[in-house]
Amino acid sequence: MNTLLERIESALIGPEPSVSEREMLQLSQLTLTRRSLTEGMLAIASIGRGKTTLLRTPLRAMLRDGWGGLIPTVKDSMIADMSECICAESRDADLILFDDKAHSVFNPFASITDINEAAALLTGVSEALNKGNHTGSDASFWKQQLQLVFRHLFALCQVQAGKLDLLLAATLFDSRAKTPAELQDPNWRTGNPMWAAIQSARASNDSDAGKAAHYFMETFPHQSGGLQSSLVATVEGVLDQLSREPLRSLFSGESTFSMRDLFDNGKICVVGLPVLSSDSGRIANAILQFCFCREAVKAKRDHHSFLILDEGQELVTTDLMEKMAVIREFKVAVFFLTQNLSVVDQRIGQLAREGLFGLMATRIFGPQNHAATRQWAAEQCGKGQQTAKSTSRSRSNRGSQSSSSETLSSRWDYICPPNQFAQLDIGETIVLRNDEIARVHWHPTHPGRGGSGRII
Ligand SMILES: Nc1ncnc2c1ncn2[C@@H]1O[C@H](COP(=O)(O)OP(=O)(O)OP(=O)(O)O)[C@@H](O)[C@H]1O
Ligand SMILES: [Mg+2]
Repeated sequence: MNTLLERIESALIGPEPSVSEREMLQLSQLTLTRRSLTEGMLAIASIGRGKTTLLRTPLRAMLRDGWGGLIPTVKDSMIADMSECICAESRDADLILFDDKAHSVFNPFASITDINEAAALLTGVSEALNKGNHTGSDASFWKQQLQLVFRHLFALCQVQAGKLDLLLAATLFDSRAKTPAELQDPNWRTGNPMWAAIQSARASNDSDAGKAAHYFMETFPHQSGGLQSSLVATVEGVLDQLSREPLRSLFSGESTFSMRDLFDNGKICVVGLPVLSSDSGRIANAILQFCFCREAVKAKRDHHSFLILDEGQELVTTDLMEKMAVIREFKVAVFFLTQNLSVVDQRIGQLAREGLFGLMATRIFGPQNHAATRQWAAEQCGKGQQTAKSTSRSRSNRGSQSSSSETLSSRWDYICPPNQFAQLDIGETIVLRNDEIARVHWHPTHPGRGGSGRII
């Protein structure tokens, strides 16, 4: 079209709306655009009260719109649930079911080449394995110590093999000297992979390798018994799992897909090893989620993508919380579904939870039987001038006739009182977005069609 025609067209119909303003969902009177979805969505309802069912509506809207993304899984049933949505939107060809049966491979070190980042990945994995054992004041000290061990191990890998390698890291850690005396022992030194790596590190000019050699010769063997044994248990726990099947085959060798496929090519990765089934499931989900979040914030993108965290309390990590604040700028929609406040507080502590939930612009409150969560939900919706009707009856002294009068009084109270969240039926929710509140019913079997939650 020539420029004159373009100008006339834009004068008549206005400028072309930004791609992010495309309307996706109609939730009663609320309209959610692509941008609204990327501003974060939280759904909170008690066990068995329709969270996974309501998720299907926004998920199918995004699938229909061609988005790709990552779906970590917590329970076995989620794999079938999510795959069903993907097939229902005829996106089967884009589904990557990440498990050993499908011979999927994702080598995190295909894109991670920095030892700090590799150490952050394994620290994140250990956090997922420890299920929130280190929260509160000792958390950052512990994290720092773990990060140091992994960082130095990877520096030695780098100098010894010229690349980051999980199996070599495991071998090196296994052959470390446990005490200062062992270090001096010629028998320990003979044919020992750690000693060979320390020698190479010393011979190299690399300062990271030099620090690593110093760490495994001076710092680690001299550490207090308690700290050293906790560190060893955690590091061995992670490395041991990663060097055994099924994780060994899943995370080493030639990758069958990359995170860029999810962001740029509309691929959808469903993790086939659920968190609650095994420790391998916990690790597999943690690694993919870490790499997804890390890749997400690397470059501005043309396409939208999603990260679905159903049973989010099992998937939340400090790394995710750090990334959440910026991830929306990269067109990534994060959906966090959980049962109540207490299950999330147990994992990450109240302060971190408040920070995380504060980043979710759309909040969906379903039926709730946890009192503190009901109170919290009521507070989120806020207070306003509420009109209450009261009826008073009076009986006249002379006869048996009674009269009643109605008075309307106005007072400052919760717009949605806490007990309202206890009275919601399955499939009924109260949706809060900025200061707008809508009552939304989600269709149980035809997501996005019946009810008042619809796909546009
Ligand atoms: N909108 C709805 N209308 C009617 N029934 C529904 C609706 N949503 C869910 N249900 C029913 O409620 C049950 C639980 O639903 P769902 O699995 O979605 O809940 P959940 O909150 O994800 O549960 P869990 O905490 O166990 O993961 C299902 O049997 C489903 O049929
Ligand atoms: Mg569910």
